[in-house]
Amino acid sequence: MKNKTEEFQKKIQSGNATIGIIGLGYVGLPLAIAFARKLPVIGFDTNGDTICTLNSGHSHILDVSDKEIQDLLSSGMLSVTNESHNIKKCDAVIICVPTPLTTNKIPDLSYVKKSCMTVCDNLKKGHLIILESTTYPGTTEEVVVPILEKSGLSAGIDFGVAYSPERIDPGNKRYTVSEISKVVGGITQKDTEAAVSLYRIIIKDVISVADTRTAESVKMIENIYRNVNIALANELALIFERMGVDTWEAINAAATKPYGFMPFYPGPGIGGHCIPLDPYYMSYQAKRYGFIPRFIETSGEINTFMQMHVVNLIEEGMKKAGIKMSETTISVFGLAYKKNIDDTRESPAIPIIEELLRRGTTLKLFDPYVKEIYANGQNIGSETDLTTTLNSSECAVFLTDHDLFKTPDTLRQIELSSVQVIIDGRNIFPKAPTGKVYLGIGKPHCLK
Ligand SMILES: NC(=O)c1ccc[n+]([C@@H]2O[C@H](COP(=O)([O-])OP(=O)(O)OC[C@H]3O[C@@H](n4cnc5c(N)ncnc54)[C@H](O)[C@@H]3O)[C@@H](O)[C@H]2O)c1
Repeated sequence: MKNKTEEFQKKIQSGNATIGIIGLGYVGLPLAIAFARKLPVIGFDTNGDTICTLNSGHSHILDVSDKEIQDLLSSGMLSVTNESHNIKKCDAVIICVPTPLTTNKIPDLSYVKKSCMTVCDNLKKGHLIILESTTYPGTTEEVVVPILEKSGLSAGIDFGVAYSPERIDPGNKRYTVSEISKVVGGITQKDTEAAVSLYRIIIKDVISVADTRTAESVKMIENIYRNVNIALANELALIFERMGVDTWEAINAAATKPYGFMPFYPGPGIGGHCIPLDPYYMSYQAKRYGFIPRFIETSGEINTFMQMHVVNLIEEGMKKAGIKMSETTISVFGLAYKKNIDDTRESPAIPIIEELLRRGTTLKLFDPYVKEIYANGQNIGSETDLTTTLNSSECAVFLTDHDLFKTPDTLRQIELSSVQVIIDGRNIFPKAPTGKVYLGIGKPHCLK
């Protein structure tokens, strides 16, 4: 293996190694682009539409431009395909497929297993296989390696295996793939070294850890840390609302402390493919080790409750304005789970929309980034004009803090609109709009 690792390192340093990326979504596509600027990349995806879109020079991910795709395709540094036999042409293969939950909220590793079976069918000596999908500690050793070894080759001897958690933050212009430090752990020291030298081609700061289990734990820590701290901010918001304290003002003032404090803010709940899911991955594995993680699970419950809190605030606002829920039109502004992106996966907007429909309200949805959202068993389209949407409803509910909603022009339009009730889930309004019933998460009540 020593010679194989050195051979591999030489190949990547001389620009002759080919990198395969399996799964060209929010994680895989930006990674493929970053590598393709340095080394030839073959991107694999089982979704035929994604392959067609990319091959016609268009990006389906907001953070990647059409021009980047077109330039790299035409220079031959990037090719995209669903033909898995091309894995044989690669020196390293990075797996970035989804890791969702089943309906019973247990880890669904079917995508990881399927992609590993595909790699296994095309595995060759000297391959380095890296898993980037978020998962519980132990997955690489317990799930990935046994599948790959069905090839008859031995992990750590004939081929290398490593795990590296992905830290990309979609929509974040400040920290792109190459600017985010990367943690890597292999099943052997040599595999760690090989993976570190691969990532150093595109990322300056690569940190090696003892093994794959430690690298997997890093991702769990990062996302559970966010989950519990958001839950804490949410719980404090529920308390401060009753105490007449503006939670946002208090948190921002607390954040002036120069050490020992990092601000997290309340909101209508958590979304995306990571923070709402990852704690369940950790819980699942913890229970297999005979430990019931109460703190982690309680945090999830508090964050989920915030969706119901939004509905309660809407009901309270309507009551104050003397409007019946069932006889009104409510506009929901912001469908993406966080600002300035188009991702609606696990968005708190979905259960809120479903609960409002269940209560018989007429709904209008508006998001500048999202065309439609799947809720209540159907795709519901976003309106195209913010002002028209505002003026055709009695109540406006803000669930995402897209920059567009916070411009002075939009805030003025909201104030001038015929909307009577405003529910602010994200501290959009610097002060309560005049002449409206205004209720917000973490805001003192009764701010008419
Ligand atoms: N989205 C994020 O912000 C983010 C951040 C860090 C980590 N992650 C983790 O990264 C992983 C990928 O997430 P994502 O957001 O990129 O998902 P995604 O759904 O955007 O992309 C996954 C892609 O994999 C493809 N795919 C599925 N099975 C495949 C297979 N067997 N072979 C080839 N392609 C296959 C899908 O068609 C899809 O295009 C997940 O584990 C996620 O938790 C995501």
